[in-house]
Amino acid sequence: MASQSAIQESLQSYKTTSTVDDFHSGGDGIGLALVKAVVEFGGHVAVIDYREVPHLDLCEIQDLHKESRVKYFSVDITNEMLVTKAFDGILAEFGRIDGVIACAGVCVEKPFVDHTWEEVVRLQMVNSVGLFFAVQLAVKAMLKNQPTSGDFTPKGSVILIGSIATESGVESQGLTAYSASKGAANGLLRGLAVELAPMGIRVNMISPGHTVTDMSISQFTNRPELAMIMRNAVPMGRMGDRRDLKGAAVYFLSDASLYTTGSNLVISGGLHAGRL
Ligand SMILES: NC(=O)c1ccc[n+]([C@@H]2O[C@H](COP(=O)([O-])OP(=O)(O)OC[C@H]3O[C@@H](n4cnc5c(N)ncnc54)[C@H](O)[C@@H]3O)[C@@H](O)[C@H]2O)c1
Repeated sequence: MASQSAIQESLQSYKTTSTVDDFHSGGDGIGLALVKAVVEFGGHVAVIDYREVPHLDLCEIQDLHKESRVKYFSVDITNEMLVTKAFDGILAEFGRIDGVIACAGVCVEKPFVDHTWEEVVRLQMVNSVGLFFAVQLAVKAMLKNQPTSGDFTPKGSVILIGSIATESGVESQGLTAYSASKGAANGLLRGLAVELAPMGIRVNMISPGHTVTDMSISQFTNRPELAMIMRNAVPMGRMGDRRDLKGAAVYFLSDASLYTTGSNLVISGGLHAGRL
């Protein structure tokens, strides 16, 4: 959750100076990189994740950016009571919510015909239902924000993390159930963008291509040939790294995108346009 004014002030001076080496692990999450982007802009962030203890890098980010408040909530976003309590805690700590990045996600990779009910229900619970209600809680808080100025009174910005997997099928990868669960974000994007625009809340989506994180590393650890596919099919000839997504998140959170809602920015090295 970022402070809108702080992000706006520092947008002018944005420099993508960080490197993948800024992070301890080669992979880990996109969410962590986006937290980093927000604090580099002077915003405050509450992180919800189901790890019991925050990732080491989150503590380092807080140490490096003492002017920003970073608060961690260990919560499973599919647990209604706990996630509601976490948002109460966020409001108690920060007083308001100006932006939300709905990033938590899980992936199960296997052929369509082999999926079990249990794993598909879990995929849908995290990637669709959990996402829906986390965004609902954030939007309820944003609606209470006081108008700032001008004719249009921005109250908040929602960013959904989608996926290249809803843009096109990926051969050699059993991502059909994952794609179906991520497709929920696409529906939410358009419905919410229209419903919330008159209330001053913008809703946009970032859809990453194959990006080096724990999720993708676990995929190509099991099947090394996937690493080649994820790289060689991409027009720009490489997988994405988390840095590639930071600017988009800051853009959508800031007033630089005040007239942008309902947009899906696919950041895939060109993969959604075509494969080599
Ligand atoms: N890595 C890629 O190539 C790629 C591509 C397209 C989209 N995405 C999407 O980006 C998002 C982040 O993925 P990532 O690659 O960083 O994966 P990741 O596995 O590194 O991170 C996912 C995060 O979600 C958290 N999480 C999972 N289930 C949760 C739950 N029930 N409650 C709370 N937190 C939960 C995990 O703890 C983890 O920190 C996901 O939505 C994913 O679908 C990733």
